[in-house]
Amino acid sequence: MHYVVTGAAGFIGSTLCDHLLGAGHSVLGVDCFTDYYARPLKQHNIRDALTHSRFQMREDDLAAADLAPLFRGADGVFHLAAQPGVRRSWGAEFATYVRDGVLATQRVLEACRTASIPRVVYASSSSVYGNAESLPVAEDDPLRPISPYGISKHAGEELCHAYHMGFGMHIAVLRYFTVYGPRQRPDMAFHRFIKSALTGRRIEVYGDGSQTRDFTYVDDAVSGTVAAMDRGAAGGVYNLGGGARWAVRDILDAIQTIAGKPLMLEHLDAQLGDVGHTAADTTKARRELGFAPTTDVHSGLVREADWLSDRLNDSLLD
Ligand code: NAD
Ligand code: UGA
Repeated sequence: MHYVVTGAAGFIGSTLCDHLLGAGHSVLGVDCFTDYYARPLKQHNIRDALTHSRFQMREDDLAAADLAPLFRGADGVFHLAAQPGVRRSWGAEFATYVRDGVLATQRVLEACRTASIPRVVYASSSSVYGNAESLPVAEDDPLRPISPYGISKHAGEELCHAYHMGFGMHIAVLRYFTVYGPRQRPDMAFHRFIKSALTGRRIEVYGDGSQTRDFTYVDDAVSGTVAAMDRGAAGGVYNLGGGARWAVRDILDAIQTIAGKPLMLEHLDAQLGDVGHTAADTTKARRELGFAPTTDVHSGLVREADWLSDRLNDSLLD
């Protein structure tokens, strides 16, 4: 198969590209290397893929470029590019979330329609649920995002729904729940916690650390993503959550054990837009996609710590 992956130099997108190449597919990666985090880190993410004869990389901005040539002849498009991050989505920053998350999604869907792309998979987020009334959340539970970021992902989902209803496009929507592992974005909790632990720096904990997340290992998220391309229903929406809910304070204990030294914690105010708890009901993804996460949080943390330690050694992180 020939697939297009948007956001190909990012955390999840680059891991998806490696997986698709390993499975024998050809991949066109698209990314404009936004400055949300350092370009060298993104370049490192796609270093192996770039050596592959079945991989091509295009540096294009999905919110502005002519997309027709990118999608022509593709068997499927994985649309992962967006401006991520819950806590920075307030204020003037929202314009970036609208541009890279909403406008770019509309342009990608329009180009997929024109090119008659057989299948599209869209990366949405657990943040569309907001503070759910009961946990775990199922796909048809109410969507009440409490951050501008969550609203941008909700809008992206609605665009997918409109293009599916309007043009009969085969689009599956995935709601990822806090993904972690090697290549995790530098703004995310595990990356920040482990890096500070390894370098002996202070760790900022938002609130008292009692908030919980259904953390999802990146390879499990990628397996679910590929399964959604192969088997997802047209117009289908799927929760992809790792299946174990951890409190931030318990994660910190686990990191302390891995680091083998006490952590220096600083408690700050809870952050606006952060939900209290997430937990995914993955019944539908298990049934329809065969989604079956296999990596427990402890093993996943060790793998992320190894990756971070290597990146510190080759001076890609400060
Ligand atoms: P990431 O920032 O590492 O990757 C996103 C990539 O998209 C970046 O490399 C960026 O340069 C690119 N991009 C952004 N705007 C673009 C544009 N206009 N044109 C071309 N490229 C553009 O983020 P990630 O953590 O890998 O997230 C991937 C997707 O999954 C995002 O849509 C995000 O909202 C969603 N998501 C992530 C998580 C998570 O825990 N990481 C959870 C839920 C949903
Ligand atoms: C993550 C991603 O960043 C979003 O892009 C994604 O859409 C979302 O998951 C999702 O599942 O939908 P978040 O859950 O905030 O968002 O992930 P982390 O950045 O890893 O934060 C996890 C928890 O740790 C949050 O409660 C946060 O407040 C806390 N945290 C984070 C800290 O206490 N300190 C930090 O330095 C960073």
